[in-house]
Amino acid sequence: MFDRQKKGDRAVLVMPHSRGEGDSARRAEEFAELVKSAGAEVLTAIAARIDVPNPRFYIGSGKADEVAEAVAALEADLVLVDHELTPVQERNLEKQLKVRVVDRAGLILDIFAQRARSHEGKLEVELAQLKHIATRLVRGWTHLDAQRGGAIGNRGPGETQLETDRRLLNERVKILGKRLEKVQTQRTQQRRARLRNTVPRVALVGYTNAGKSTLFNALTTGEVYAADQLFATLDPTVRKIDGLSCGPAVLADTVGFIRELPHDLVAAFRATLAEAREADLLLHVSDAADDEREPLHRVVNKVLQEIDAGDLPQLQVMNKIDLAGLEPRIDRDGDGRPYRVWLSAATGAGVELLHQALGELLGGDRVQSSLHLPLTAGRLHARLKASGAIAEETVDEHGWRLRIDAPRSVLAPLGADATEAGMLRDLLAPAS
Ligand code: GTP
Repeated sequence: MFDRQKKGDRAVLVMPHSRGEGDSARRAEEFAELVKSAGAEVLTAIAARIDVPNPRFYIGSGKADEVAEAVAALEADLVLVDHELTPVQERNLEKQLKVRVVDRAGLILDIFAQRARSHEGKLEVELAQLKHIATRLVRGWTHLDAQRGGAIGNRGPGETQLETDRRLLNERVKILGKRLEKVQTQRTQQRRARLRNTVPRVALVGYTNAGKSTLFNALTTGEVYAADQLFATLDPTVRKIDGLSCGPAVLADTVGFIRELPHDLVAAFRATLAEAREADLLLHVSDAADDEREPLHRVVNKVLQEIDAGDLPQLQVMNKIDLAGLEPRIDRDGDGRPYRVWLSAATGAGVELLHQALGELLGGDRVQSSLHLPLTAGRLHARLKASGAIAEETVDEHGWRLRIDAPRSVLAPLGADATEAGMLRDLLAPAS
């Protein structure tokens, strides 16, 4: 609908960095990976030191000339800048370099757009893209192939087109917003239905490429797309884990986290990460062979805070011990609770330790007790039954005598009103 100049796939990368900035080689490598994930070919990467950003181009004008030379010599049709650009900077650079220029946020959105699988994910990505585009619309869409310039405040025939574009875009944003609301309502209902029968929920989170999809496969049965590509999984996939001492659990895979996730995107992806937010336990996967795993661990925790999942219990998984030359093991805290498991999702070494730790952590909060319900509590009884919480029951004219055996997280939401919650209160009181 809002096609801009067709995207090319022969790219020159520009890597801005400031003086004294951390590991720029690592960042460059990661950006190149992102670019490849988007399906573009990397022709060359040009480092650009930024002491004071140039308001016109963000990079210095001498650097812009150097990039222009590289573009011409290598016949590139795309320049990707590893930083956010203002719409004006993007436009100025496009004019100067005579090829399409995409900044980091635009690139990530492009990858999300390619990878979104669910209906909801697709709607969300399109919405985020339209919002991103909206900030860039002021410059008009045709400045690359027309003379009119399309600059801010440039009155004339261009404005009519610009206003039409803007109106169409706003209408599209509204339609998408409505559709998304509908899909989200359905999704919440499905989630509630699932909750009623649930078993504890575990979600995999981690920096991109840490090995979440591989671990997902190692812990569950069946196939899921795992590839050495950033964002191989955008929408959460949910599957059952069997063989835990606490009984079955469900595991959700989530999209890989990255540094500097554009803020709009964090907001747009809250629903995509809903599985993580609603989990009883997060499995936070790191690459044990990566020297930068600690800063990356912090990046993931920061994003988790942004999506309100910062306070959920976590079990850390140090993956790829085969590459790091380490042995599988469980680290425990002062109370003997597992907090970190070292394993290799690829070779399977230590996966049984993760099973053990999950069983301990999820089973630890299990309620095993008797409960007496009056016959008037038929609805609560039905919900307990559907959730699989009843291990044994007898009924007579005084009501039901039940033996309950279920995780606390399953029982807690079952009381639909104050009376029912009161009936469950003793059951849910922490053991003294
Ligand atoms: P995103 O979807 O991008 O977030 O990635 P992910 O975290 O799901 O990573 P994925 O499972 O796709 O693994 C990334 C790469 O690491 C793949 O090439 C895997 O084969 C590899 N990998 C995963 N686990 C291990 C491991 O234990 N050892 C080794 N050597 N490689 C692993």
